[in-house]
Amino acid sequence: MAIPFQFGHLADGENFINRQEEANRLSRNFQSGVNTLIISPRRWGKSSLVSRVVKQLRTNSNLRVVTIDLFSVRSEQQFLSLFAREVIKATSTKWEEWGENVRKFIGSAVPKIAFGNQPGAEVELELSWADKKINPLEIYDLPEVIAKKKKLKVVICIDEFQNIGHFADPTGIQKQMRSVWQKHQHASYCLYGSKKHFLTHVFTHQSMPFYRFGDLMYLPKIEISHWLKFIPAQFKKMVKKFL
Ligand SMILES: Nc1ncnc2c1ncn2[C@@H]1O[C@H](COP(=O)(O)OP(=O)(O)OP(=O)(O)O)[C@@H](O)[C@H]1O
Ligand SMILES: [Mg+2]
Repeated sequence: MAIPFQFGHLADGENFINRQEEANRLSRNFQSGVNTLIISPRRWGKSSLVSRVVKQLRTNSNLRVVTIDLFSVRSEQQFLSLFAREVIKATSTKWEEWGENVRKFIGSAVPKIAFGNQPGAEVELELSWADKKINPLEIYDLPEVIAKKKKLKVVICIDEFQNIGHFADPTGIQKQMRSVWQKHQHASYCLYGSKKHFLTHVFTHQSMPFYRFGDLMYLPKIEISHWLKFIPAQFKKMVKKFL
């Protein structure tokens, strides 16, 4: 049976309400290469907001947005591999280029293209480092190197950023990321998540590497007045479907 609201999915299209101001601000930052940091409690709409802006910017021909979700990432090694894979995919025009781009831009990695068994299954890029060691600095620099070479602007969005707290040396990793990313001129970063206390410390404490790294947004709650318009409209639409 049809229901008037979406649960557990990102809000998009006509299910997305308000947030116009925040969406404009994010969109401006993405297009002008300004780093953004977003904090809010869980379920307040961070992922939906970023996803909406990313979709709107798809038509911008020289901008590539990479989205990385740290939800199930538990180590730096896993993160680096995911980061490299998603940057290569987002900056290639077709999957046939993935292998060549890995060889060109990440000398140390071995690419493998995996085809799903089911018809219509997605093609995926897998990276391994065989006997060579993964070099974090090389991986963190990848967005800038590719953006420069391909004359693109690249935005890297990292969701559930608080999960770096589970890595072996969270502060050391942040230092490495910041030291590389602050030099980037063609790549910018949007880091966001919940765990307000932890992320506020990470983004605003003077002793922390990401202190003053970018435009800090505390996402507010969607005002009740917007819901009051939205809720009856959704019921109306559902009723129309059954008439
Ligand atoms: N602008 C919006 N309009 C309508 N519904 C929204 C909006 N933003 C979020 N929602 C609803 O709220 C729920 C939570 O949104 P979302 O997953 O984007 O939040 P989040 O802050 O990323 O949560 P988490 O911290 O758990 O990752 C979604 O199921 C979505 O349907
Ligand atoms: Mg989210």
